[in-house]
Amino acid sequence: MTGATGAIQAAALADPETFARGDACRVFRHLRTQEPVAWTPEPDGPGFWSVTRYAEGACVLKDASTFSSVEGTTLEGNRWQDDPAAGRMLPLMAAPAHTALRRILMPHVSGPRVDALRHDTAGFLAHVLEECTERGRFEVGDGLATRVAMHVAFRLLGLPPEDEAGLLPVVRDTLSCNESRRHLADAELLIYVSEAVEVRRRHPADDAISAIMGAEIDGRPLDDETVLLTVLNVMSAGLTTTRLAITGAIHALMHHPDQWRWLQRRPDMPGTAVEEVLRWTSPAAAVVRTAHADTVLAGRRIRRGQRVAVWIPSLNADEAVFADPDRLRLDRAPNRHLGFGTGMHACLGMMLARLELRLLMSEIRRAWAGIEPDGPAERLTSLVLQGIDRLPVRVGPS
Ligand code: HEM
Repeated sequence: MTGATGAIQAAALADPETFARGDACRVFRHLRTQEPVAWTPEPDGPGFWSVTRYAEGACVLKDASTFSSVEGTTLEGNRWQDDPAAGRMLPLMAAPAHTALRRILMPHVSGPRVDALRHDTAGFLAHVLEECTERGRFEVGDGLATRVAMHVAFRLLGLPPEDEAGLLPVVRDTLSCNESRRHLADAELLIYVSEAVEVRRRHPADDAISAIMGAEIDGRPLDDETVLLTVLNVMSAGLTTTRLAITGAIHALMHHPDQWRWLQRRPDMPGTAVEEVLRWTSPAAAVVRTAHADTVLAGRRIRRGQRVAVWIPSLNADEAVFADPDRLRLDRAPNRHLGFGTGMHACLGMMLARLELRLLMSEIRRAWAGIEPDGPAERLTSLVLQGIDRLPVRVGPS
Protein backbone atom coordinates (compact mmCIF):
# COMPACT_ATOMS: atom_id res chain seq x y z
CA MET A 1 0.00 0.00 0.00
CA THR A 2 1.55 3.28 -1.10
CA GLY A 3 -0.09 6.71 -1.44
CA ALA A 4 -1.88 8.47 1.40
CA THR A 5 -0.51 6.45 4.35
CA GLY A 6 3.01 6.52 2.94
CA ALA A 7 2.78 10.29 2.41
CA ILE A 8 1.64 10.86 6.02
CA GLN A 9 4.45 8.65 7.34
CA ALA A 10 7.04 10.33 5.11
CA ALA A 11 5.91 13.81 6.23
CA ALA A 12 6.85 12.83 9.80
CA LEU A 13 10.48 12.67 8.63
CA ALA A 14 10.52 16.44 8.05
CA ASP A 15 9.78 16.99 11.75
CA PRO A 16 12.70 16.75 14.25
CA GLU A 17 10.15 15.97 17.00
CA THR A 18 9.65 12.54 15.39
CA PHE A 19 13.22 11.77 16.47
CA ALA A 20 12.90 13.43 19.88
CA ARG A 21 9.87 11.24 20.62
CA GLY A 22 11.62 8.08 19.42
CA ASP A 23 8.96 7.45 16.74
CA ALA A 24 11.32 7.27 13.76
CA CYS A 25 11.84 3.46 13.89
CA ARG A 26 8.13 2.89 13.38
CA VAL A 27 8.01 5.34 10.45
CA PHE A 28 11.09 3.77 8.85
CA ARG A 29 9.68 0.24 9.19
CA HIS A 30 6.51 1.31 7.43
CA LEU A 31 8.29 3.14 4.61
CA ARG A 32 10.84 0.36 4.00
CA THR A 33 8.07 -2.08 3.21
CA GLN A 34 5.50 0.27 1.65
CA GLU A 35 7.34 3.15 0.00
CA PRO A 36 11.15 2.84 0.18
CA VAL A 37 11.64 6.04 -1.85
CA ALA A 38 8.97 8.44 -0.61
CA TRP A 39 8.29 12.11 -1.32
CA THR A 40 8.55 14.07 1.93
CA PRO A 41 6.75 17.43 1.93
CA GLU A 42 8.13 20.17 4.18
CA PRO A 43 6.11 22.94 5.82
CA ASP A 44 8.84 25.53 5.08
CA GLY A 45 10.87 24.11 2.20
CA PRO A 46 10.68 22.53 -1.24
CA GLY A 47 10.39 18.95 0.08
CA PHE A 48 12.77 16.04 -0.52
CA TRP A 49 12.87 12.32 -1.28
CA SER A 50 13.33 9.95 1.67
CA VAL A 51 15.27 6.76 0.95
CA THR A 52 14.78 4.18 3.70
CA ARG A 53 15.94 0.86 2.19
CA TYR A 54 19.57 -0.33 2.32
CA ALA A 55 19.86 -1.23 -1.40
CA GLU A 56 18.67 2.15 -2.72
CA GLY A 57 20.45 4.10 0.05
CA ALA A 58 23.82 2.49 -0.75
CA CYS A 59 23.18 3.16 -4.45
CA VAL A 60 22.65 6.89 -3.83
CA LEU A 61 25.74 7.23 -1.62
CA LYS A 62 27.97 5.37 -4.08
CA ASP A 63 26.86 7.29 -7.17
CA ALA A 64 28.34 10.74 -6.52
CA SER A 65 27.92 11.94 -10.10
CA THR A 66 24.12 11.45 -10.11
CA PHE A 67 23.67 12.29 -6.41
CA SER A 68 25.98 15.16 -5.50
CA SER A 69 26.92 16.32 -2.01
CA VAL A 70 28.26 19.73 -3.13
CA GLU A 71 25.00 21.66 -2.56
CA GLY A 72 24.64 20.40 1.02
CA THR A 73 24.47 17.16 3.01
CA THR A 74 22.07 17.95 5.85
CA LEU A 75 18.41 18.80 6.40
CA GLU A 76 19.49 21.97 8.18
CA GLY A 77 19.29 25.52 6.89
CA ASN A 78 17.55 26.79 3.77
CA ARG A 79 16.90 24.07 1.23
CA TRP A 80 15.79 26.56 -1.45
CA GLN A 81 19.46 27.51 -1.67
CA ASP A 82 22.77 25.68 -1.68
CA ASP A 83 24.84 25.38 1.51
CA PRO A 84 26.98 28.56 1.84
CA ALA A 85 30.01 26.29 2.43
CA ALA A 86 29.48 24.48 -0.93
CA GLY A 87 32.83 23.34 -2.35
CA ARG A 88 34.70 24.66 0.69
CA MET A 89 34.93 21.65 2.97
CA LEU A 90 35.44 17.93 2.43
CA PRO A 91 31.82 16.69 2.55
CA LEU A 92 30.74 19.45 0.15
CA MET A 93 33.52 18.91 -2.38
CA ALA A 94 33.49 16.90 -5.61
CA ALA A 95 36.36 15.03 -7.29
CA PRO A 96 39.14 15.84 -8.07
CA ALA A 97 39.47 18.48 -5.27
CA HIS A 98 37.82 16.11 -2.80
CA THR A 99 40.20 13.26 -3.69
CA ALA A 100 43.23 15.52 -3.28
CA LEU A 101 42.20 16.92 0.11
CA ARG A 102 41.13 13.52 1.45
CA ARG A 103 44.50 12.07 0.47
CA ILE A 104 46.25 14.82 2.45
CA LEU A 105 44.09 14.22 5.55
CA MET A 106 44.05 10.42 5.50
CA PRO A 107 47.46 9.85 7.16
CA HIS A 108 46.21 11.86 10.16
CA VAL A 109 43.24 9.57 10.80
CA SER A 110 44.73 6.16 10.04
CA GLY A 111 47.75 3.90 10.55
CA PRO A 112 50.53 4.90 12.94
CA ARG A 113 48.80 8.13 14.06
CA VAL A 114 45.76 6.24 15.28
CA ASP A 115 48.08 3.77 17.03
CA ALA A 116 49.84 6.70 18.68
CA LEU A 117 46.49 8.12 19.82
CA ARG A 118 45.47 4.78 21.34
CA HIS A 119 47.76 5.06 24.35
CA ASP A 120 46.91 8.69 25.05
CA THR A 121 43.15 8.12 24.66
CA ALA A 122 43.22 5.03 26.88
CA GLY A 123 44.92 7.09 29.62
CA PHE A 124 42.43 9.94 29.35
CA LEU A 125 39.47 7.55 29.33
CA ALA A 126 40.76 5.73 32.41
CA HIS A 127 41.05 9.09 34.21
CA VAL A 128 37.51 10.24 33.25
CA LEU A 129 36.00 6.85 34.12
CA GLU A 130 37.67 6.87 37.51
CA GLU A 131 36.11 10.27 38.21
CA CYS A 132 32.66 9.10 37.03
CA THR A 133 32.86 5.83 39.01
CA GLU A 134 33.86 7.70 42.16
CA ARG A 135 30.89 10.06 41.77
CA GLY A 136 28.61 7.06 41.22
CA ARG A 137 25.97 9.11 39.37
CA PHE A 138 26.51 11.33 36.35
CA GLU A 139 25.12 12.35 32.98
CA VAL A 140 26.88 10.30 30.28
CA GLY A 141 26.61 12.82 27.36
CA ASP A 142 28.38 15.77 29.04
CA GLY A 143 30.19 13.90 31.83
CA LEU A 144 31.87 11.26 29.71
CA ALA A 145 31.04 11.08 25.99
CA THR A 146 31.76 14.64 24.80
CA ARG A 147 34.87 14.81 26.98
CA VAL A 148 36.35 11.74 25.27
CA ALA A 149 35.30 12.88 21.78
CA MET A 150 36.79 16.35 22.37
CA HIS A 151 40.02 14.93 23.70
CA VAL A 152 40.55 12.92 20.51
CA ALA A 153 39.56 15.84 18.23
CA PHE A 154 42.02 18.11 20.07
CA ARG A 155 44.88 15.59 19.72
CA LEU A 156 44.11 15.11 16.02
CA LEU A 157 44.15 18.84 15.31
CA GLY A 158 47.03 19.61 17.67
CA LEU A 159 44.93 21.97 19.84
CA PRO A 160 46.03 22.78 23.42
CA PRO A 161 44.53 20.27 25.92
CA GLU A 162 44.04 23.08 28.49
CA ASP A 163 41.33 24.58 26.23
CA GLU A 164 39.17 21.43 26.30
CA ALA A 165 37.25 22.07 29.52
CA GLY A 166 36.47 25.70 28.62
CA LEU A 167 35.08 24.73 25.23
CA LEU A 168 32.84 21.93 26.56
CA PRO A 169 29.77 24.14 27.18
CA VAL A 170 30.18 25.69 23.72
CA VAL A 171 30.23 22.26 22.06
CA ARG A 172 27.23 21.33 24.20
CA ASP A 173 25.32 24.40 22.92
CA THR A 174 25.96 23.49 19.28
CA LEU A 175 23.30 20.81 19.96
CA SER A 176 20.80 23.15 21.57
CA CYS A 177 17.20 23.14 20.28
CA ASN A 178 17.26 26.90 20.90
CA GLU A 179 18.27 28.38 17.55
CA SER A 180 19.92 31.59 18.80
CA ARG A 181 21.89 29.66 21.41
CA ARG A 182 23.01 27.21 18.72
CA HIS A 183 24.08 30.00 16.35
CA LEU A 184 26.01 31.72 19.13
CA ALA A 185 27.84 28.48 19.94
CA ASP A 186 28.63 27.88 16.24
CA ALA A 187 30.07 31.40 16.04
CA GLU A 188 32.17 30.90 19.20
CA LEU A 189 33.55 27.64 17.82
CA LEU A 190 34.41 29.36 14.54
CA ILE A 191 36.27 32.13 16.40
CA TYR A 192 38.16 29.55 18.46
CA VAL A 193 39.16 27.61 15.34
CA SER A 194 40.21 30.73 13.43
CA GLU A 195 42.48 31.75 16.33
CA ALA A 196 43.98 28.25 16.37
CA VAL A 197 44.63 28.48 12.62
CA GLU A 198 46.41 31.81 13.14
CA VAL A 199 48.63 30.25 15.82
CA ARG A 200 49.49 27.37 13.46
CA ARG A 201 50.32 29.83 10.70
CA ARG A 202 53.07 31.21 12.92
CA HIS A 203 54.11 27.83 14.40
CA PRO A 204 53.49 24.95 11.95
CA ALA A 205 53.44 21.48 13.53
CA ASP A 206 52.90 17.87 12.55
CA ASP A 207 49.11 17.88 12.95
CA ALA A 208 45.92 17.94 10.87
CA ILE A 209 45.56 21.76 11.00
CA SER A 210 49.03 22.23 9.51
CA ALA A 211 48.26 19.56 6.88
CA ILE A 212 45.09 21.42 5.84
CA MET A 213 46.92 24.76 5.75
CA GLY A 214 49.69 23.30 3.61
CA ALA A 215 47.31 21.51 1.23
CA GLU A 216 47.53 22.33 -2.46
CA ILE A 217 44.90 21.44 -5.01
CA ASP A 218 45.95 21.66 -8.66
CA GLY A 219 49.13 23.38 -7.48
CA ARG A 220 47.21 26.14 -5.67
CA PRO A 221 46.97 26.52 -1.88
CA LEU A 222 43.52 26.48 -0.26
CA ASP A 223 42.05 29.93 0.36
CA ASP A 224 41.68 31.09 3.98
CA GLU A 225 37.95 30.42 4.15
CA THR A 226 38.34 26.84 2.86
CA VAL A 227 41.09 26.21 5.43
CA LEU A 228 38.87 27.50 8.23
CA LEU A 229 35.76 25.59 7.18
CA THR A 230 37.72 22.37 6.65
CA VAL A 231 39.36 22.58 10.09
CA LEU A 232 35.97 23.34 11.66
CA ASN A 233 34.42 20.39 9.82
CA VAL A 234 37.15 17.92 10.84
CA MET A 235 36.78 19.10 14.43
CA SER A 236 33.01 19.06 14.71
CA ALA A 237 32.25 16.02 12.49
CA GLY A 238 33.50 13.70 15.23
CA LEU A 239 32.14 15.44 18.32
CA THR A 240 28.40 14.88 18.38
CA THR A 241 28.48 11.69 16.32
CA THR A 242 30.86 10.06 18.78
CA ARG A 243 28.96 11.50 21.75
CA LEU A 244 25.76 9.86 20.47
CA ALA A 245 27.54 6.55 19.78
CA ILE A 246 28.97 6.44 23.33
CA THR A 247 25.76 7.55 25.02
CA GLY A 248 23.78 5.10 22.87
CA ALA A 249 26.23 2.27 23.65
CA ILE A 250 25.83 2.74 27.41
CA HIS A 251 22.04 3.08 27.06
CA ALA A 252 21.93 -0.15 25.01
CA LEU A 253 24.10 -2.11 27.47
CA MET A 254 22.00 -0.86 30.39
CA HIS A 255 18.78 -2.08 28.75
CA HIS A 256 20.19 -5.42 27.52
CA PRO A 257 21.56 -7.09 30.64
CA ASP A 258 22.21 -10.38 28.79
CA GLN A 259 24.50 -8.55 26.32
CA TRP A 260 26.19 -6.61 29.13
CA ARG A 261 26.94 -9.86 30.99
CA TRP A 262 28.17 -11.45 27.74
CA LEU A 263 30.58 -8.55 27.24
CA GLN A 264 31.79 -8.67 30.84
CA ARG A 265 32.52 -12.41 30.63
CA ARG A 266 34.55 -12.19 27.40
CA PRO A 267 38.32 -12.30 27.93
CA ASP A 268 38.90 -10.13 24.82
CA MET A 269 37.00 -7.14 23.45
CA PRO A 270 35.22 -8.47 20.35
CA GLY A 271 35.25 -6.20 17.28
CA THR A 272 31.70 -7.38 16.51
CA ALA A 273 30.49 -5.53 19.63
CA VAL A 274 31.81 -2.19 18.32
CA GLU A 275 30.21 -2.73 14.91
CA GLU A 276 26.88 -3.72 16.42
CA VAL A 277 26.87 -0.61 18.61
CA LEU A 278 27.54 1.50 15.51
CA ARG A 279 24.64 -0.18 13.71
CA TRP A 280 22.35 0.04 16.74
CA THR A 281 23.05 3.68 17.54
CA SER A 282 23.40 4.97 13.92
CA PRO A 283 24.15 8.58 15.00
CA ALA A 284 23.96 10.07 11.48
CA ALA A 285 20.27 10.52 10.61
CA ALA A 286 19.62 12.02 7.14
CA VAL A 287 22.57 12.22 4.75
CA VAL A 288 21.46 14.47 1.89
CA ARG A 289 22.35 14.59 -1.80
CA THR A 290 21.09 16.64 -4.77
CA ALA A 291 20.17 14.88 -8.03
CA HIS A 292 22.34 16.15 -10.91
CA ALA A 293 20.28 14.28 -13.52
CA ASP A 294 16.74 12.96 -13.88
CA THR A 295 16.78 9.39 -12.64
CA VAL A 296 14.59 6.55 -11.33
CA LEU A 297 14.98 4.93 -7.92
CA ALA A 298 12.70 2.09 -6.76
CA GLY A 299 10.26 3.09 -9.50
CA ARG A 300 10.07 6.76 -8.43
CA ARG A 301 11.09 9.48 -10.87
CA ILE A 302 13.59 11.85 -9.29
CA ARG A 303 14.06 15.16 -11.08
CA ARG A 304 17.36 16.99 -11.53
CA GLY A 305 17.81 19.49 -8.68
CA GLN A 306 15.64 17.60 -6.14
CA ARG A 307 17.08 16.74 -2.74
CA VAL A 308 17.38 13.11 -1.65
CA ALA A 309 17.74 12.19 2.05
CA VAL A 310 19.27 8.79 2.79
CA TRP A 311 18.13 7.72 6.28
CA ILE A 312 21.11 5.83 7.76
CA PRO A 313 19.25 4.43 10.84
CA SER A 314 16.66 2.90 8.51
CA LEU A 315 19.28 1.36 6.21
CA ASN A 316 20.89 -0.18 9.30
CA ALA A 317 17.58 -1.72 10.39
CA ASP A 318 16.67 -3.14 6.96
CA GLU A 319 15.35 -6.67 7.50
CA ALA A 320 16.51 -7.62 3.98
CA VAL A 321 20.13 -7.22 5.10
CA PHE A 322 20.14 -7.75 8.89
CA ALA A 323 18.49 -10.79 10.47
CA ASP A 324 16.37 -9.74 13.45
CA PRO A 325 17.45 -6.06 13.12
CA ASP A 326 15.58 -4.91 16.25
CA ARG A 327 17.68 -7.17 18.46
CA LEU A 328 21.02 -5.99 19.85
CA ARG A 329 23.45 -8.84 19.16
CA LEU A 330 27.02 -7.93 20.08
CA ASP A 331 28.29 -11.04 18.25
CA ARG A 332 26.47 -10.15 15.01
CA ALA A 333 28.49 -11.26 11.98
CA PRO A 334 28.47 -10.36 9.21
CA ASN A 335 27.46 -6.78 9.95
CA ARG A 336 27.61 -4.59 6.83
CA HIS A 337 26.16 -1.53 8.57
CA LEU A 338 26.37 1.86 6.91
CA GLY A 339 26.84 3.86 10.10
CA PHE A 340 29.82 5.61 8.50
CA GLY A 341 28.11 6.01 5.12
CA THR A 342 29.74 4.56 1.99
CA GLY A 343 31.27 5.72 -1.28
CA MET A 344 33.74 8.59 -1.69
CA HIS A 345 32.37 10.57 1.29
CA ALA A 346 32.43 7.65 3.76
CA CYS A 347 33.49 8.84 7.21
CA LEU A 348 37.07 10.07 7.32
CA GLY A 349 37.31 9.50 11.07
CA MET A 350 35.96 5.95 11.24
CA MET A 351 39.17 4.49 12.66
CA LEU A 352 39.21 7.10 15.41
CA ALA A 353 35.54 6.51 16.21
CA ARG A 354 36.09 2.73 16.35
CA LEU A 355 39.11 3.25 18.61
CA GLU A 356 37.11 5.41 21.03
CA LEU A 357 34.21 2.96 21.21
CA ARG A 358 36.46 -0.05 21.60
CA LEU A 359 38.43 1.53 24.46
CA LEU A 360 35.25 2.74 26.14
CA MET A 361 33.44 -0.60 26.06
CA SER A 362 36.55 -2.47 27.06
CA GLU A 363 37.11 -0.19 30.09
CA ILE A 364 33.55 0.09 31.39
CA ARG A 365 32.96 -3.67 31.43
CA ARG A 366 35.94 -3.91 33.80
CA ALA A 367 35.25 -0.75 35.82
CA TRP A 368 31.51 -1.08 36.43
CA ALA A 369 29.57 -3.95 37.98
CA GLY A 370 26.29 -2.56 36.69
CA ILE A 371 24.62 0.49 35.07
CA GLU A 372 21.20 1.81 36.12
CA PRO A 373 19.06 4.74 34.95
CA ASP A 374 19.15 7.80 37.22
CA GLY A 375 16.40 9.74 35.45
CA PRO A 376 14.81 9.81 32.01
CA ALA A 377 17.03 9.57 28.93
CA GLU A 378 16.53 12.41 26.40
CA ARG A 379 16.75 12.01 22.65
CA LEU A 380 18.24 14.64 20.37
CA THR A 381 15.76 16.88 18.51
CA SER A 382 17.34 16.97 15.05
CA LEU A 383 17.14 15.57 11.53
CA VAL A 384 20.92 15.66 11.05
CA LEU A 385 21.93 13.40 13.93
CA GLN A 386 19.83 11.16 16.11
CA GLY A 387 20.02 9.17 19.33
CA ILE A 388 20.27 9.47 23.10
CA ASP A 389 21.69 12.89 23.88
CA ARG A 390 21.38 12.99 27.69
CA LEU A 391 21.59 9.90 29.84
CA PRO A 392 21.68 10.18 33.64
CA VAL A 393 23.05 6.94 35.14
CA ARG A 394 24.17 5.34 38.42
CA VAL A 395 27.11 2.99 38.25
CA GLY A 396 28.72 0.73 40.83
CA PRO A 397 32.42 -0.23 40.84
CA SER A 398 33.12 -3.88 40.06
C1 HEM B 1 30.61 7.26 15.72
C2 HEM B 1 31.15 8.34 15.19
C3 HEM B 1 30.95 8.79 13.77
C4 HEM B 1 29.91 8.54 12.91
C5 HEM B 1 28.66 7.70 13.16
C6 HEM B 1 30.20 9.24 11.67
C7 HEM B 1 29.39 9.20 10.53
C8 HEM B 1 29.73 9.76 9.32
C9 HEM B 1 28.96 9.62 8.10
C10 HEM B 1 27.65 8.84 7.96
C11 HEM B 1 29.61 10.30 7.13
C12 HEM B 1 29.20 10.41 5.65
C13 HEM B 1 28.40 11.67 5.38
C14 HEM B 1 28.02 11.79 3.92
O1 HEM B 1 28.10 10.82 3.16
O2 HEM B 1 27.59 12.90 3.54
C15 HEM B 1 30.78 10.91 7.73
C16 HEM B 1 31.69 11.72 7.05
C17 HEM B 1 32.75 12.35 7.67
N1 HEM B 1 33.21 12.17 8.95
FE1 HEM B 1 32.37 10.95 10.34
N2 HEM B 1 31.39 9.92 11.81
C18 HEM B 1 31.89 9.65 13.06
C19 HEM B 1 33.08 10.12 13.60
C20 HEM B 1 33.97 10.96 12.96
C21 HEM B 1 35.22 11.43 13.53
C22 HEM B 1 35.80 11.03 14.90
C23 HEM B 1 35.76 12.29 12.62
C24 HEM B 1 37.06 13.05 12.80
C25 HEM B 1 37.96 13.14 11.90
C26 HEM B 1 34.85 12.34 11.46
C27 HEM B 1 35.04 13.09 10.32
C28 HEM B 1 34.28 12.99 9.16
C29 HEM B 1 34.55 13.75 7.95
C30 HEM B 1 35.65 14.80 7.76
C31 HEM B 1 33.59 13.34 7.00
C32 HEM B 1 33.48 13.83 5.55
C33 HEM B 1 34.23 12.86 4.67
C34 HEM B 1 34.18 13.19 3.17
O3 HEM B 1 33.29 13.93 2.74
O4 HEM B 1 35.05 12.69 2.44
N3 HEM B 1 33.79 11.51 11.71
N4 HEM B 1 30.84 10.56 9.06
